[in-house]
Amino acid sequence: MGMTGVLKLYFCESNLPTPDYIKRAAAEAMSEGYTFYTENAGLFPLRCELARYYRTLHGVELDPESEIVVTASGVQALNVAIRTVLDPGDEALVLTPAWPNGSSIVTMASARPVEIPHPLKGDRYEIDFGALEQALSPRTRLLIYTSPSNPLGWVATESEQQRLLDFCRQHDLWLLADEVYDRLYYETATLGTPVPSILRKARRDDAVMVAQSFSKTYCMTGWRLGWLIARADLARKATQLNEFIISHAASFAQKAGEIALRQGEGELVAMLRRLKENRDFCLEALRRMPGVTVPKPDGAFYLFPKIEGLSDSFDFCRRLLIETRVGLAPGVAFGAGGEGSVRLCYAADKSVLEPAVERLGSFLRHG
Ligand SMILES: Cc1ncc(COP(=O)(O)O)c(C=O)c1O
Repeated sequence: MGMTGVLKLYFCESNLPTPDYIKRAAAEAMSEGYTFYTENAGLFPLRCELARYYRTLHGVELDPESEIVVTASGVQALNVAIRTVLDPGDEALVLTPAWPNGSSIVTMASARPVEIPHPLKGDRYEIDFGALEQALSPRTRLLIYTSPSNPLGWVATESEQQRLLDFCRQHDLWLLADEVYDRLYYETATLGTPVPSILRKARRDDAVMVAQSFSKTYCMTGWRLGWLIARADLARKATQLNEFIISHAASFAQKAGEIALRQGEGELVAMLRRLKENRDFCLEALRRMPGVTVPKPDGAFYLFPKIEGLSDSFDFCRRLLIETRVGLAPGVAFGAGGEGSVRLCYAADKSVLEPAVERLGSFLRHG
């Protein structure tokens, strides 16, 4: 981390600062007195704004009083969701490669993550429903999936969502969908259209939870603001748990989040245009490199190239860093199915991406 001159493509964030209108909203909220504690479920107007957001974007009706919990980040939404449904000794099925925090939180709850890799079929990752079925045990309580995926960029199809939901209904499992990248979606006629939320398919009494965040959509990683949607009984428990972990997200950040939801569409679309261009540039460059296979990702801002013959992605990334000053994340960090690949975040500027892929290409040819 202390090395200078590194082209950093290993982080999970864009290099764009938070838009000014959001910063101004936070400053105004502070001067208006939003410096006190709020409800553990978050400020009610923000929950109402989230309900409006789901109505507008997904045609889903949510009760802001009982089904929405504001959290201090997406990872906090995952934390309260997982801890609320798992007892020590329980098991959670986790679709991987995935951002490792889901599995880690399961372990921290003294439960066991059972990782089920997404198989690559042709140019697309899929879900191995046979492996899910085989991994079931009397202690299985939860299934976690991430769509759009970090690190794959994979997006669940509607029929995959339906099968996941049916699988969980049939086996009496909670289904936790990590949808924090839902707005970063490129395979749509109009940029800005979200990936359809699992909530469009779920009934109100389904054991379904959605973890969400302001971090990626609004470039608010450092603000620590997210939300959890859940069935009312679980949302109530998650709200109680919030009290003992952090109580609630910062009050002025919540006010700024409300404005982001209301006014953010224009800046979001501009960012998506740039991200899509970056994706296509990096994808094309990677596909020209020897021994590299990389499916086209539909969402998020990552590419996850598989490198022929690679068996130690950590060592590969270390050598790449030392010899070329290009920072990538080793695939092994993302759990089962991750080894043999590396993750590249293409949310940086072209001025960083161009030399980085150039150096990676020559490292692969000569390194
Ligand atoms: C898949 C996924 N879920 C959740 C998060 C959490 O985001 P945050 O805690 O910044 O809201 C991240 C962050 O990188 C992520 O990649």
